[in-house]
Amino acid sequence: MRAGRFITLEGIEGAGKSTVARIVCDWLEARSIPVRLTREPGGTPLAERVRRVVLERGDEGLSPVTETLLMFSARGIHVENLIRPSLARGEWVVCDRFTDATRAYQGSGRGVDAQWIEGLASAVHRDLVPDCTLLLDLPPTVGLARARRRSGLAADRFEAEAEAFFHKVRAGYLELARREPHRIRVIDAAAELVGVERQVVHVLEGLLEP
Ligand code: TMP
Repeated sequence: MRAGRFITLEGIEGAGKSTVARIVCDWLEARSIPVRLTREPGGTPLAERVRRVVLERGDEGLSPVTETLLMFSARGIHVENLIRPSLARGEWVVCDRFTDATRAYQGSGRGVDAQWIEGLASAVHRDLVPDCTLLLDLPPTVGLARARRRSGLAADRFEAEAEAFFHKVRAGYLELARREPHRIRVIDAAAELVGVERQVVHVLEGLLEP
């Protein structure tokens, strides 16, 4: 059996990842491709517990380095218990965020050393690299307004950040896409939904080509 493919979705808050995840899963399922939708941080019961620790706003602070370690702890659990087994069964894994999020948020956003992040990435998931990453790109002003309308006072530790933080995160993502244009496909997420869908389907069709 051919191993499944690994597709990740990235972008700042309010970029529409959940909507695009639905589009991707529906498109694959319509072609009888087995799909597993999951997310990071989280994706398994244990990793979801780490998610709560890292996202909840509390009185106790988390340094950027500790935050990075927690992201990779959750990722290690998720890769071992869900992502690799699903791929081995031939499923296509659609994952809402993966290591590019750590590069963009902790690396570019918080200033954590990029080489140290790469060291952790290879320790935690070795050769596991997404076959394709859809980077949903839009201006932070637009994304944050959407995200804050949705979560209001319940904003998590990241949504509570100032807009300047998301400019750095967005720039980090775009730099990653510039370096790996074949893997990371930039989608204009400020477009109308039909336009976003058209761009996403175009990328998916390319993935199915022999
Ligand atoms: P989301 O489920 O809305 O995408 O929220 C997850 C938050 O966690 C989001 O603000 C991005 C952040 N995050 C990181 O900072 N680093 C990471 O490695 C991951 C996976 C998420």
